[in-house]
Amino acid sequence: MSVNDQQLRDAAWKAVEEKKDVVESDSYRLKFHVMPPVGLLNDPNGWIHWKGTYHLFYQWMPFKTDHGAKFWGHFTSKDLVNWKHEDIALTPSEWFEKNGCYSGSAISKEDELWLYYTGNLKNEKNERSTYQCLAISKDGLRFDKKGPVVELPEEYTPHFRDPKVWSQDGKYFMVVGAQTKEEKGAVALLSSIDGMEWKHERIIAGGGKDSLGDFGYMFECPDLFRLDQKDVLVFSPQGLEAQEWKYQNVYQAGYVMGEFNATDASYTFGAFHELDRGFDFYAPQTTEDEFGRRVLVAWMSVPDQHEQEHPTIKHGWIHCMTIPREIKIVQDKIYQLPVKELEELRLGTPREQQIELEGSTLTFEAADAHELQLNDISLDGDWFAVEWSGAARFSYNKQTKMATLERVSYVDGLWEKRQCPVENVTDIQVFRDTSSIEVFVNGGEEVFTARIFPQGDDPFVTITTKGELGASFAMWELES
Ligand code: FRU
Repeated sequence: MSVNDQQLRDAAWKAVEEKKDVVESDSYRLKFHVMPPVGLLNDPNGWIHWKGTYHLFYQWMPFKTDHGAKFWGHFTSKDLVNWKHEDIALTPSEWFEKNGCYSGSAISKEDELWLYYTGNLKNEKNERSTYQCLAISKDGLRFDKKGPVVELPEEYTPHFRDPKVWSQDGKYFMVVGAQTKEEKGAVALLSSIDGMEWKHERIIAGGGKDSLGDFGYMFECPDLFRLDQKDVLVFSPQGLEAQEWKYQNVYQAGYVMGEFNATDASYTFGAFHELDRGFDFYAPQTTEDEFGRRVLVAWMSVPDQHEQEHPTIKHGWIHCMTIPREIKIVQDKIYQLPVKELEELRLGTPREQQIELEGSTLTFEAADAHELQLNDISLDGDWFAVEWSGAARFSYNKQTKMATLERVSYVDGLWEKRQCPVENVTDIQVFRDTSSIEVFVNGGEEVFTARIFPQGDDPFVTITTKGELGASFAMWELES
């Protein structure tokens, strides 16, 4: 450990200690979501189930609620429900990462845990350099930095970052989020025999020359994996223009699906689909756990010009992760469902009842952290809606076949909405935390994720309909 590393660690823990009371006094602190002890959290990094423990690292700025020279914070969990904040994994202490240990991934290699991440560097003129770096751990807690293992290939600008590494057919592969010299977003593929020496293979998606066409100026946080006989490439493109109901957030996160050929390092794929329909979802990362499930976690926000207007800023912290979601392919589409373990959060017996509404309203008192399900929904009318105490509202309109999530904006206090088409809504499962909501429609066919900031302390859930609505309703209070 260098002197600089030690100083940065001490300063970060000091910031945690000094602001603890202010941070913890915030009523918007979440009960069952991963969030930073102080400062800013963004992307999930190094997400892996290793020797029976889930490791979830994250982009962390401990000194302020804004972006900057990022650390890798570290949480572990045995069960995806209870999380422990561990010692800091990486500090931006060395010359090759002075302006941030940016996003990356983890692999298990010969009994060790290897982290690949981006060393972000800026000079006095604010010009960027980028290195893909390696750090190795024997115990999963202390990491020994090996420095840069990949230098910038000549095809790209220094916007080249977020390595995701996996092993396949006796080799290692790495996808990197990139921008070509023509300023087109791209995913670069590299390969290696030993995980130390890397060869640039090619652009496997983007670059303005494939079926994606003109698809933005930068792709961040790529992730390529095999799921249900398909090779899925997840990435977060920047620079897409909003269309009717698509691409409504400033940046997107989604996937294409196809075939990856490890022999000639080629990838063929189909159309791009967004992974989430809400306001706050970016830079997702997946891992296959030791039970063979593919589990996704995303940053519950988007890099945005309004980040500094978040109500939690005055309490010295900002942002959180989504709940872990198991993903599957159903009819050529990724479905996301809360991992089963989250049932452990349920307190006591649920409130359950059969709902029969005819143009009327039902109101339930609700804990500020709860799970709500409406199953076997039958709607003989125009629409139904579920509203959370004037903070958020999910509705489905049978005439337009649109599902909608509305929330009160934390910027101007006005209602804003996100939508997507759904043929028929038969079930919804909602995870509501003190300042977030995640709505899973039809067993994960669509998901709406958002931060919400309710004003009063008496949360109510109201169900309304125009026409006849039948459904079985269940609601559990969830524990911290
Ligand atoms: C995505 C991102 C990554 C980068 C990291 C820096 O949110 O911009 O591309 O590695 O955040 O914190």
